[in-house]
Amino acid sequence: MDIDAIPRTLPRFSATFDPHTLAEIRRAAATGIYDIRGGGTKRALPHFDDLLFLGASVSRYPLEGYREKCATDVWLGTRFASKPIHLKIPITIAGMSFGALSGQAKEALGRGATIAGTSTTTGDGGMTPEERGQSETLVYQYLPSRYGMNPDDLRKADAIEVVIGQGAKPGGGGMLLGQKISDRVAAMRDLPKGIDQRSACRHPDWTGPDDLEIKIGELREITDWEKPIYVKIGATRPYYDVALAVKSGADVVVLDGMQGGTAATQDVFIEHVGIPILAAIRPAVQALQDLGMHRKVQLIVSGGIRNGADVAKALALGADAVAIGTAALVALGDNDPRYEAEYQAIGSTAGAYDDWQDGRDPAGITTQDPDLAARLDPVAAGRRLANYLSVMTLEAQTIARACGKSHLHNLEPEDLVALTIEAAAMARVPLAGTDWIPGTGRF
Ligand SMILES: Cc1cc2nc3c(=O)[nH]c(=O)nc-3n(C[C@H](O)[C@H](O)[C@H](O)COP(=O)(O)O)c2cc1C
Repeated sequence: MDIDAIPRTLPRFSATFDPHTLAEIRRAAATGIYDIRGGGTKRALPHFDDLLFLGASVSRYPLEGYREKCATDVWLGTRFASKPIHLKIPITIAGMSFGALSGQAKEALGRGATIAGTSTTTGDGGMTPEERGQSETLVYQYLPSRYGMNPDDLRKADAIEVVIGQGAKPGGGGMLLGQKISDRVAAMRDLPKGIDQRSACRHPDWTGPDDLEIKIGELREITDWEKPIYVKIGATRPYYDVALAVKSGADVVVLDGMQGGTAATQDVFIEHVGIPILAAIRPAVQALQDLGMHRKVQLIVSGGIRNGADVAKALALGADAVAIGTAALVALGDNDPRYEAEYQAIGSTAGAYDDWQDGRDPAGITTQDPDLAARLDPVAAGRRLANYLSVMTLEAQTIARACGKSHLHNLEPEDLVALTIEAAAMARVPLAGTDWIPGTGRF
């Protein structure tokens, strides 16, 4: 028998050395440069899609959508601040810097958030008059880089967010490449124009929770104990980090999972450091519960939130609110297929464009080029964001009513099951059709 004549189907590529990996090795060999990009993780990770709601049936009673209310509001900063924040919806806009984003994009975020009754947040680059002017509720980031830090702006803000880290790069600092350091960005950050900027990965004023407590005390004094103080952390060891943020005096903890977007960092950081938000929420809530602080110190979670189902699931796991970054940019018009030819001209395609560090965004959002930025109409883009926030809220309400809840915050882990063993272990809800929650209960 002629063995060679027997037809065979050989696997074409190795799963380990797949075509992308091979291309990356060749790219690294040719250039000697690691890949920097924007966006969040690209590979599939355990996420909210791995959870399902158990709608009401005989054993639970649903609410009638057209007659029975399902409230959506949230208070943030009720622990110490004399002026806590009251939002109409539990979906906030995450911190994204002027520098990473155009002035028009920042203005549009403020407009959209204000129409929807929620807050927006400054970023690693200070507060612009456009965003303060258009944002009814503006959170001011206080960052390791101290770029754009101004005590007057602390007083102009409605809340202050002390940034320890981001989900896309916990343990790393911000990056803004020279292409995006325009005259205005350079002046705000006190940097030379056109030179790559890499922010500090840790704050110079503290080394641990004791010093952080002193810093938070200073921020409260500067702002007359009026403003809520948030502490933002990238998800890595959420139980301990949340407990220490509470010990340091935070009114609100912002927990950002590894799927979270960034304007620019090393690809290896985005894909390999931190844990998915799905795995981080329950330990964070557990820390708050163990300290008797759940719902007293509010928890905002972020990292890959896309729709009302994600919002409802995050809240059911114990969060008080969510924050969105990437999805808000898409709602403004980022990666819009109408710019397909231009995305192709810069080596990308609509829907996959993530070279936000390059500053050549045809949609006028992640750029400082005045001609490109002028393409974004902040009024129309703000309206799109408001529509999107409204749809997310309606979707979350639909789910909550189906589970018999008169407020989004009444959703609870008991309303959820998991589709995979991994998600069941991470979210600490039973695998669908079983009463099995894998895991040891230790964090
Ligand atoms: C363009 C862009 C710029 C960002 N800039 C900052 C920043 O200046 N400070 C910060 O704490 N986080 C920054 N982030 C992270 C967001 O605040 C947030 O944690 C993240 O976008 C949430 O994940 P999502 O994009 O999947 O919604 C940025 C994110 C994006 C997409």
